[in-house]
Amino acid sequence: MSKSAEPLAALFEAAKAAQAKAYAPYSRFNVGAAILTPSGAIYAGCNVENAAYPQGACAEAGAISAMVHGGERRIAEILVIGDGDALVTPCGGCRQRIREFAALDAPIHIAGPDGVKASFTLDELLPHSFGPGHLK
Ligand code: THU
Repeated sequence: MSKSAEPLAALFEAAKAAQAKAYAPYSRFNVGAAILTPSGAIYAGCNVENAAYPQGACAEAGAISAMVHGGERRIAEILVIGDGDALVTPCGGCRQRIREFAALDAPIHIAGPDGVKASFTLDELLPHSFGPGHLK
């Protein structure tokens, strides 16, 4: 957990540091994610793969776990970083994981090694979504 006066730059650095810790011996595709909460705190995670492939966990899931363990439950912004030319957007499952804790207009930033390449809202990546409000 950390705080900074420049949230996006701090998010990028936190996600990049997390990416460097990824455990991805099977795909060799290291991913980092960092969440900014309304308090200004940042929580990060990396992907953790498993020899039983479906048991692997995405970076976003790790960052969400860190946030909840840190006592917070709102995602103000999230940044995901991966390598390669293509945008490393969250997988379908992680879009739904983010949906649990974020507003529909929450920014999802997609970065490469040199910085943010694109930004979307959650609603753009997961339109017409199902969320906690449906159960109230
Ligand atoms: N991965 C993530 O951690 N987050 C994403 O947004 C996309 C994919 C991971 C899962 C797996 O360990 C590796 O990247 C290749 O799919």
